[in-house]
Amino acid sequence: MSAEKKTPPEMFDPKCNMTPEMTAKLYDNWSGYYEEEIITQRNCRAPRVCAGAVAKALGGSDRGKARVLDVGAGTGACGEELAKLGFTNIDAVDGSQGMLSQAEGKHIYNRLICAFVGPNRLDIEADTYDAIACSAVFAPNHLKEDCLPELIRVAKPGGYIIITLREEYLYIVEDYIDKLEPAMARLQDEGLWERVSRDVFKMYEVEDKDGITFVFKVL
Ligand SMILES: C[S@@+](CC[C@H](N)C(=O)[O-])C[C@H]1O[C@@H](n2cnc3c(N)ncnc32)[C@H](O)[C@@H]1O
Repeated sequence: MSAEKKTPPEMFDPKCNMTPEMTAKLYDNWSGYYEEEIITQRNCRAPRVCAGAVAKALGGSDRGKARVLDVGAGTGACGEELAKLGFTNIDAVDGSQGMLSQAEGKHIYNRLICAFVGPNRLDIEADTYDAIACSAVFAPNHLKEDCLPELIRVAKPGGYIIITLREEYLYIVEDYIDKLEPAMARLQDEGLWERVSRDVFKMYEVEDKDGITFVFKVL
């Protein structure tokens, strides 16, 4: 497959049904152009908003010591925002080696883990992270609610999980309709985390689409 210069059309199509391997392959091919299109041209604010929410949740903690996991780190856009805010202890996990190779060149991550994030166990000890950032990784053919217990497992008790996504995906993506927010509520009922906030924001500087940020505290 040749390198994709524009968003592969099937990637964010709620009607396409792709395996994680298919999604990773599309990202591998798009990896050299992702940032130019999404961050530079479309000015997606998700990485900045997600990183800001991590900083706010952790409050006065020492940002040089706090351990942060950037989930679906991609080319490192959210990691860069975290680094700008003073975080220096950041790991990355992503299913696409091509995206992770772009991120590696930024020298902001300690550990880069190429793995799918789902119900599977990650090669990470329990209770490791003070915060887990998920910027723009809940989308059609991306993460599903089945990964949330694993994210909770690798977060420290008292740590935070921050999830930023395009708001309309909650209502148009088959995997999320009546599934994602109910799963979040169920985990709260089970005493595994509690929701701290649910905030809507303008996702792009130039496009009229809202984003939403969920902040959860792990119990
Ligand atoms: C839209 S990009 C977001 C990248 C970055 N977080 C940002 O805000 O720019 C989505 C990323 O999630 C990764 N991804 C999608 N599904 C995944 C899965 N099941 N497991 C791990 N990574 C996944 C993709 O490879 C891609 O790098």
